[in-house]
Amino acid sequence: MSNNMMDDVEKILFSEAELATRIKELGQAITADYAGKEILMIGVLRGAVIFMSDLARAIELPVAVDFMAVSSYGAATSSSGVVRILKDLDEDVENKHVLIVEDIIDSGLTLNYLMENLWSRKPASIKICTLLNKPDRRKADVPIAYNGFTIPDYFVVGYGLDFAEKYRNLPFIGVLKPEAYQG
Ligand code: XMP
Ligand code: MG
Repeated sequence: MSNNMMDDVEKILFSEAELATRIKELGQAITADYAGKEILMIGVLRGAVIFMSDLARAIELPVAVDFMAVSSYGAATSSSGVVRILKDLDEDVENKHVLIVEDIIDSGLTLNYLMENLWSRKPASIKICTLLNKPDRRKADVPIAYNGFTIPDYFVVGYGLDFAEKYRNLPFIGVLKPEAYQG
């Protein structure tokens, strides 16, 4: 791979092929569970975009897509639990079957807030689909209907996930070498 991004990677956790296989399985489970319904996939920007585009094509049902961008308030990021909506949905979710698509759930605070916020808009249902689940640092209990992989408390990049906006386009999920953080 050009640009030497590979030099920053310590190990690959999930290869491109492993991701593809798992996402096919998730798509089949979702297809079975939502038979006869239409799904509104809500992607959480920006990390979920690549996962969502593959997942949508693994679902054999009508799917609409929309996006939200959120950020934690202040510098105390993931510990505060207060989330600010940077970009709201374009569409109304009332009476829709909402499937929230997330790259990774860590503390759970982001999705905990998002679930509460979306329920107030009276959808028919809400479920969460996350590619990665990092339960070690969970602070808020969020119901995960579909989980790609559970991982230890590693900081991971690739397949949509970034470090300082870099590495999102790696086709696998990997762990960075410490040098890559220290710049
Ligand atoms: P919560 O609220 O569950 O937040 O703590 C989840 C969000 O935190 C980010 N996050 C990561 N991003 N590699 C990343 O690139 C990671 O290992 C990681 N862990 C958490 C991510 O934005 C996610 O949406
Ligand atoms: Mg995210």
